[in-house]
Amino acid sequence: MKDSLLYAANWKMYLSFNQEMQFFNAHKKQLIELSQQSTIALLPSFVSLVPLAQELKSTHLKLGAQDCSSELPGAYTGQVPAQSLSQIGCSYCLVGHSELRKLGQSTDQIVQKIIRLYEQKVTPIVCVGETEAEYKQDKTTHVIRKQLLPILEIPYLKKIIIAYEPAWAIGTDKTPHAHEITDVFSYLSSCIKDADNNVEYMLLYGGSVSQSNIKEFKKIPGIGGFLIGHNSLDFQEFEKIVSL
Ligand code: PGA
Repeated sequence: MKDSLLYAANWKMYLSFNQEMQFFNAHKKQLIELSQQSTIALLPSFVSLVPLAQELKSTHLKLGAQDCSSELPGAYTGQVPAQSLSQIGCSYCLVGHSELRKLGQSTDQIVQKIIRLYEQKVTPIVCVGETEAEYKQDKTTHVIRKQLLPILEIPYLKKIIIAYEPAWAIGTDKTPHAHEITDVFSYLSSCIKDADNNVEYMLLYGGSVSQSNIKEFKKIPGIGGFLIGHNSLDFQEFEKIVSL
């Protein structure tokens, strides 16, 4: 029977186009099998989206992008509009990943990206989370609140996926304790409900998810799934994360 968890594989920019396609082709059959059991979304780099969309057409695997423009189509060199993501069949798009916030992506831009995605019926996966210094200073809820509140003010917010990803846990093999994630999830839920009780939302955890912590993380109350970076490109590891 299919569980209700979402596993979003964030391939980042680890591989070239050829390598992404090779990885997919090498594991296509197994990925399709995994998607019978859970919802699996592949988030490759932009250039692989179109060929992968063709490959995924007749499967239950979902496709997502790692970012999109905050603007409508126009004179924006190097940007990809939400409209194109929708046209090629993306179900999801990451927004506000800490690796992009670090490069200067602002909360205003993140809000605009979410609006662009709603216009195109692509579900945003919005990343929130604190830095290591903020974690050590016990500022997690304060930081998350600042990241989340402007998003909750979007007037036609209906369906949203929030990924709690502490920046210090990304790619480091360090993670918060399950009880800390539980606390963040209850805080996120109360912020969302306070803003609008009718918003349909899902909470993911991301940051060094692996076969060694997944069993414990799957027990977190209210967990909707996981955002998986480097371990999504180690197929044996990814398979364990989904199946354990
Ligand atoms: P990681 O990355 O699994 O490599 O820590 C997660 C992410 O950044 O989405």
